[in-house]
Amino acid sequence: MAGVSQSSGQDHWSSRAAFILAAIGSAVGLGNLWRFPYEAGEGGGGAFVLVYILCIFLIGLPVLCAELMIGRRGGGSAISAVARLAKTEGHPALWGTFAALGILASFLILSFYCMIAGWVLYYVVAIIGDLFSNIAANGFGAISAGAFANDSTDEISGRLGALLARPGEVIIYQGIFVLLTVGIVARGVSGGIEKAVTILMPAFFVMLLILVVVALVQGDGAQAVNYLFKPDFAALADGVRNGTILGAALGQAFFSIGLGSALMITYGMYMNKDADVPGSATIVCSADTIVALIAGLAIFPIVFQFGLEPGGGPGLMFGTLPLAFQQMPFGAVFGAVFFLMALFAALTSSISLLEPAVAWRDGAAELPAEDKMKRRLAASIGLGAILFGLGVMHIMSQVPGDQPNFFNNWVPLDFGSFAGQTFFDFSDTLTSKFLLPIVALLTSIFAGWVVSKTASREELGFKTESRYRAWYFLIRFVCPAAIFLIVLTSLGIL
Ligand code: TRP
Repeated sequence: MAGVSQSSGQDHWSSRAAFILAAIGSAVGLGNLWRFPYEAGEGGGGAFVLVYILCIFLIGLPVLCAELMIGRRGGGSAISAVARLAKTEGHPALWGTFAALGILASFLILSFYCMIAGWVLYYVVAIIGDLFSNIAANGFGAISAGAFANDSTDEISGRLGALLARPGEVIIYQGIFVLLTVGIVARGVSGGIEKAVTILMPAFFVMLLILVVVALVQGDGAQAVNYLFKPDFAALADGVRNGTILGAALGQAFFSIGLGSALMITYGMYMNKDADVPGSATIVCSADTIVALIAGLAIFPIVFQFGLEPGGGPGLMFGTLPLAFQQMPFGAVFGAVFFLMALFAALTSSISLLEPAVAWRDGAAELPAEDKMKRRLAASIGLGAILFGLGVMHIMSQVPGDQPNFFNNWVPLDFGSFAGQTFFDFSDTLTSKFLLPIVALLTSIFAGWVVSKTASREELGFKTESRYRAWYFLIRFVCPAAIFLIVLTSLGIL
């Protein structure tokens, strides 16, 4: 096995801390700041949060261990890592297909992730621009003003809608974000991704800390805590009965950790042999969950303080929150900090979403380092171009209906969960409800039934045999069964 795993041309994380930071950077993203709060809002607050935490630790954590283990044992790209491992265990290399599906999923997610990050970038520019013109007009005292101080309520809550109606502008912001992502990934694992996360993640944590303190000190912290942590058992029973909570919570858990996308297999490939897989996985899952909850505690207190509704769906971050920032003292400054923080989080996630596809294109780890970097550059640019094109399709699909175009009329698959969905919603549903869970299902079957016990025990290196047994039981029975049931609910069969 040793010869298989670490070929000379393979780039590696320079330390365990670097890997953990990169993996947390990947996990912590718009999923925590934009998606988690509104999913929690739609799922009834505390009831959703409880199910979500169970999903993370009973299903997400074992699957994350499995993905990292598979990656570290393989090498090259996620597909070849799985294929080689399958072959050494005497199974067909065809197993590599599920990694290919994962790469497809991460690439498709990235295509709309860049659009949403483009919206975030627009808000950064808009809030800061507005603050500066306010200061220019009214003197430096205007720094204590709220965000978009001169706009009416309707103008603020309609700002995203108005932006969507100007697709040319969104395409520019999206394009800038794609360029940033490609620029980092093209520089390689230790030279690009690692350097970026060591700057961006600490900055992210500082900004998050500032925002949560401000929100708790001056907002309605008590109501926010109540909302996020008080399990409403009636809502829970309802949601479990009609299957909405489980599917949404598991989908969100996979999206948030970044499972079922070949990404953690790929990041696992760059881990050193002496790295502690279960320990690192536990840190990543815990950090990701803590950030989601803290983000909730930074957002909901100010939303409640100004009597706004949390259940606003995807508009929570781009409509409701700016309204709260308008009414808040120094709201323009804190609003700018919030969106800049979201931008940093999005960037450390988008680089991780591009990496599996780039690793697949530059896969030949045996090449001399210099040739490999050239292939990597070419792969990053080529994939970046495709990404930009897909992004334009998403953006056009979001243009309001009074400006009809091909994409806002195009419904790729008009049935079941996809009925009536244009390209963006279609891609979101396809990935979070189907591709990620299906790939995660195949990953757990692969890790629990195809990879031998000797290999997984050795590779995972649990500190005690009982922990290994717990993992083995979860990955063999609990994860596949739970994910399978949830996929069936998404299909509307259950
Ligand atoms: N986890 C990131 C977030 O919460 C997004 C992300 C990064 C992701 N890599 C992924 C989602 C892989 C799904 C699959 O924003």
